[in-house]
Amino acid sequence: MSLLTINKLTDTVGAEVTGLDPGNLAADDPIADAILEALEDNGVLVFPELHLAPETQVDFCRRLGEIDRSNDGHHPVSGIYPITLDKSKTTSASYLRGTFDWHIDGCTPMGDECPQRATVLSARQVADRGGETEFASAYKAYEALSVELRERVDSLRVVHSLEASQRRVTPDPGPELLARWRERPTHEHPLVWTHRSGRKSLVLGASADYVVDLDLDEGRALLADLLATATETDKVYSHGWSVGDMVIWDNRGVLHRAAPYDPDSPREMLRTTVLGDEPIQ
Ligand code: OGA
Ligand code: MN
Repeated sequence: MSLLTINKLTDTVGAEVTGLDPGNLAADDPIADAILEALEDNGVLVFPELHLAPETQVDFCRRLGEIDRSNDGHHPVSGIYPITLDKSKTTSASYLRGTFDWHIDGCTPMGDECPQRATVLSARQVADRGGETEFASAYKAYEALSVELRERVDSLRVVHSLEASQRRVTPDPGPELLARWRERPTHEHPLVWTHRSGRKSLVLGASADYVVDLDLDEGRALLADLLATATETDKVYSHGWSVGDMVIWDNRGVLHRAAPYDPDSPREMLRTTVLGDEPIQ
């Protein structure tokens, strides 16, 4: 008997999971395994109007793996990080505007941490207009490449930086802000990630600054082309939020971004991050 009812949301990415008893989410081991399997298959799982308490969200995530608690202190519950542009609720509003560009979380860590395995958001308050979260499969992006293009990208390496992603939303940082961005080390990653599972995905997004050993403009044009193709509208699942929705994405194989919303909007997501143990290789 299947533990979950799963309905695909698009041909390439995303599935809706229904029929779950929230009380079981945090307690039932087989459900955690089934969810991880469904996540690998679908990239994004949507649990409509689940209304989990923050503590239950953390308990549930704990079943999926180890949780990032390094950003604790922004919310009373350990393991919860609020995502909002509302300056009365966060000190990171300008940094969080970086979520408006396609990205993969964790490509520019402080040290050598692996990108997170999965990210969970649940909607506390939603925007009146905009503020959908959009997802595109980075696995499908690789699989859709022509043989010639695969050969071209297979051996390329890309330098990622916080500066690259932040410049897109703050093109003219003062010297202090720039210095702060640059405290975060740059990271060189292969353009094609060969996962332990054997699957391959493209490592793209706002943090991807330039291609190593390629003419700067040519490399950037290639990255922009690959990203544009990976995120064509018909390959994207756009989640329009209702309060209480919970969404999980496989951060290793999915690109995501927030659709623009009013910076004064009360939109607030509660994020829990399940740590990864697989380097981009
Ligand atoms: C994130 C993120 C998108 C959103 O939390 O990493 O990119 O829609 N969020 O808030
Ligand atoms: Mn993100």
